[in-house]
Amino acid sequence: MATHLETLETPVPIVDLDRLTHNLDRMAAYATLHDLRLRPHVKTHKAPRIATEQLQRGAVGLTCATTQELETMADVCDDLLLAYPPVGAARLERLMRLPSSVRLTVAVDSADCLPALSMAARLARRELEVYVEVDVGMQRVGVAPSHAAVSLAKAVRDTEALRFAGVTFYPGHVREAVGEQGSAIAALSTALNALQESLLDAGLPPRVISGGSTPLAWRIHEVAGVTEVRPGTYVYNDRTTAAIQACDWDDCALTVLATVVSTAVPGQCVVDAGTKALAREPLRGEGDGYAAVLDHPEVVVTRMSEEHGILDLSHTDWQPRVGDRVRLVPNHVCIVVQQFDTVVGVRGDYVETTWPVAARGRGAIVLDEDSKPRRPRMA
Ligand SMILES: Cc1ncc(COP(=O)(O)O)c(C=O)c1O
Repeated sequence: MATHLETLETPVPIVDLDRLTHNLDRMAAYATLHDLRLRPHVKTHKAPRIATEQLQRGAVGLTCATTQELETMADVCDDLLLAYPPVGAARLERLMRLPSSVRLTVAVDSADCLPALSMAARLARRELEVYVEVDVGMQRVGVAPSHAAVSLAKAVRDTEALRFAGVTFYPGHVREAVGEQGSAIAALSTALNALQESLLDAGLPPRVISGGSTPLAWRIHEVAGVTEVRPGTYVYNDRTTAAIQACDWDDCALTVLATVVSTAVPGQCVVDAGTKALAREPLRGEGDGYAAVLDHPEVVVTRMSEEHGILDLSHTDWQPRVGDRVRLVPNHVCIVVQQFDTVVGVRGDYVETTWPVAARGRGAIVLDEDSKPRRPRMA
């Protein structure tokens, strides 16, 4: 007999399976339509099961941010990108222990990291594909998309065991609503066009120009030269994505199911989802609060303790009672998912399946017989 959602202990992340399928299909169709290689970022779901669905729909490979994600995804995919600076001996050691069948690409923004990367690759008898990371406005990582990028590409080409494969950028600064992204897209195109020309002049044509995010996902084909896209959030979507109009409210596939545990203080109610379920991420764009009720978007979580979320009831006729269940749409779904071991897949009000958030965390550390710290997965 099917299990009703009522029986689940809360808080618990639940995924509407129909919405998930719709989101996966829509992005796969968009990439196919515009002849873009889809390399989704797994940081949102951290689940081999969803990665497999993405690959079955034509994704060319996966993007990861952590070694834990790489190790987990190596079980289902042999083409992985580490979109994070490959810096630090322990990180490199872990990287090189990935199965040799995995074609590994790394994104770099400094020549300083190349000697250690090359040495690690040679010791592991691997060849690494390398994307040069450029900063196109987010000001997080990346060299300027000018002569700095060209000289880094040359340095990569001239380093043993490394192969210059292309350019990567993350346009995380583009947060305008989809219809208002025109000037940001024009600026990106100008920068990437100029870079491509300089790389051609230097005899280093980029095979791949990899970019993208969920906010820009539906217009990334307008950015000149882009060949590969890496959206992550689109699988589940969230309140921020809806605010940017990169999805409809009805495309929010993951909600946190919570229970009203108190209505004692007038004008509000308290649910059993606080910062340890919803995470304290402000909404980027219009609106306040940390999450909104799926069926009553006018009701938002305005305050939180670790296990308490306070819903402001001053803008609604809805009168929740103790014991009622609510589905909360978080501001930023990626940091919600990684707080849970398991996600529950539902069809309507019934549980259909569950899956582990297998790549959450960083992996346990144990001491070996010489009292050296090591990750159990590492041989
Ligand atoms: C390097 C990189 N690529 C792709 C993504 C995916 O972007 P989004 O979460 O908007 O889908 C991220 C997100 O943080 C990222 O850091």
